[in-house]
Order: sequence, then structure tokens, then C-alpha cells
Amino acid sequence: MSRLDSAIRRLCAQRDCLNAAVADAPEGAFLEVGLGNGRTYNHLREIAPDRDIWVIDRQMNAHPASAPPDALFLCGEADDMLAALHGRIGRKVALAHYDLGVGIEEQDTPLRARMAPLLRDLLAPAALLVANGRFDLFDTIPAPDTVPKDRYFMHRA
Ligand SMILES: C[S@@+](CC[C@H](N)C(=O)[O-])C[C@H]1O[C@@H](n2cnc3c(N)ncnc32)[C@H](O)[C@@H]1O
Repeated sequence: MSRLDSAIRRLCAQRDCLNAAVADAPEGAFLEVGLGNGRTYNHLREIAPDRDIWVIDRQMNAHPASAPPDALFLCGEADDMLAALHGRIGRKVALAHYDLGVGIEEQDTPLRARMAPLLRDLLAPAALLVANGRFDLFDTIPAPDTVPKDRYFMHRA
């Protein structure tokens, strides 16, 4: 498969998982870990306009149309920012989308393992974690049928 086809598959999988998670999320705030260009954040904002969406990234590189409000943007290293968010809102995140990593499993798996307990402390009961990799700390739940196996992951807290 070409890298273009692979990227298209990933974007469709992200969209379909986020749509499914929003439809099933309990009460609470949302969290985007890895703002990047802001595509997935922008999508979340479109489909869940009533939720507070906290955003973590070590830098602000989003398209202006996808920039979060300053009050909900935590700029810094993800582990520090996840701990800081816990200090501010506690276990109130209903849906988290995790999109950190470089696409190399030897690096991304240990990164997820480091982030997992910090995310667990933020997730409300029955909250959903949508992610670009599998988190062993959480139960996985089926992604929508349109998502190829192991392309994108959904977990329940
Ligand atoms: C793949 S991009 C996110 C793409 C985004 N979800 C989108 O749809 O446009 C990953 C982002 O995570 C950020 N990032 C990577 N590792 C990080 C870390 N340890 N702490 C904070 N931010 C990090 C990078 O700065 C980058 O903006």
C-alpha cells in the first residue's frame, strides 16, 4: 500500500472512531493530546460544539481555523501537561483522543506506556480513549466496521 493510501486510511479511521466515540461519550470534557495541524481537534469541535475540549501540545502549530482558545490549551510536554490538567479538573475527561508518536512502534509503545497512567487519572467512569495505538492499560472496544483491523483503536476506561 502506498503511503498516500495509508494516510487516507488513517484519516478515515480517525474520523470514524471520533464520530463513534462522541456518540457514546458520558458527560464531561474532551481532551486532544497532540494538536499538530489541528485537523482532529477541528473535527471534534464541529461534532461536539457543546463540550470543553482541552488540548495538549508542546507547540502551537495549528491552522488558525483550528486553534483552541488560550484558556483550554496546555502548551508543554504531554506528561507534565496531563498531570497539570489532573490538578485542574480531576477525573472529568469523557473522551480523550491520543495522537502522539512518530509511527515507529519501538518508540511509540514505550511512550504510550508512560502516558497511560496519566490518562487513566483523567478519564471519568465509562470514558472513551481513541488512539493511534493500543493502550494495554485499558480495555479495547470494537472500532466501527469501516476501520481496518488495528488501524485505529478505541478503549473504555
Ligand atoms: C501527529 S501530530 C497530531 C496531529 C493532529 N491530531 C491533527 O489531526 O492534526 C502530533 C503532535 O504531537 C506533538 N507532540 C509529540 N510528542 C509530544 C510530547 N511528548 N508532548 C507534547 N506534544 C507532543 C507534536 O508537537 C505534534 O504537534
